[in-house]
Amino acid sequence: MSTAPDRPTSDPEALFEGDTDRAAYVRQMFGEISHRYDLVNRIMTVGQDQSWRRLAAAQIVRPGATVLDAGTGTGDLAFACLQAGASRVLGIDVAGPMVERAREKSHARDVEASTGFSLGDATRLPLPDASVDAWCSAFVVRNIPDLPAALAEAWRVLKPGGRLAILEIPRMEPGLLRPFARMHFRYVVPRIGRVVTGHSSAYRYLPVSVDHFLAPRELTELLRDTGFMVTQVRMLMFRTVAMHVAVKPDVS
Ligand SMILES: C[S@@+](CC[C@H](N)C(=O)[O-])C[C@H]1O[C@@H](n2cnc3c(N)ncnc32)[C@H](O)[C@@H]1O
Repeated sequence: MSTAPDRPTSDPEALFEGDTDRAAYVRQMFGEISHRYDLVNRIMTVGQDQSWRRLAAAQIVRPGATVLDAGTGTGDLAFACLQAGASRVLGIDVAGPMVERAREKSHARDVEASTGFSLGDATRLPLPDASVDAWCSAFVVRNIPDLPAALAEAWRVLKPGGRLAILEIPRMEPGLLRPFARMHFRYVVPRIGRVVTGHSSAYRYLPVSVDHFLAPRELTELLRDTGFMVTQVRMLMFRTVAMHVAVKPDVS
């Protein structure tokens, strides 16, 4: 079993060098900030993040749908899918404390019967082929070193005609807004993150992971290469957040 590396706390950039286990860092780091994760989200997005999750859920959930939320964290996208009409939502995450928090919230909302939160990896889903109507993920795929494997798993577990939605902070293309966005992610976000969570590296890792991630058109290409038909790419929050919506074609 891999262990979290000690280097990245001082240098998140080192996580993107070949011999470092980024997945182990990500799992440990999200576990360590789970208690304050929701609060940082609300502050960082000026309260907008829940509306993006509702928007994504509305694109993919049909009444009675079974949905998988990959990298569910504290469960907010899963709850948005329930509100959108899903009858069952499964949330999986590699970080145990995040899964615990999602279960607590599910209990507090009295929706335990229609949710199932468990430990799991988006690149190795514990589900049969063609078993869900929708697959979704919010602010996760940037953290998965083998993203093609995660998308291939999404394809495998989706029924033909099933829908996928991804919310993510993409690498920004050059443009007028980019210098402002970079300043926000490099200088404002890490300070807020450190003060609220007490974690020194989590929110310094964030802008580095964004710089190493795909631009929106590259994620569109990757989805197409996996076999998906991309139906919508929508930019939110001054183009700092992208929502990709896609369908697994029903060829029968
Ligand atoms: C930024 S949080 C997003 C949580 C939630 N989706 C939300 O909307 O707030 C990223 C989450 O993805 C999880 N994660 C990272 N890599 C994963 C993987 N390969 N499989 C499942 N979960 C993963 C992390 O543990 C963390 O809880």
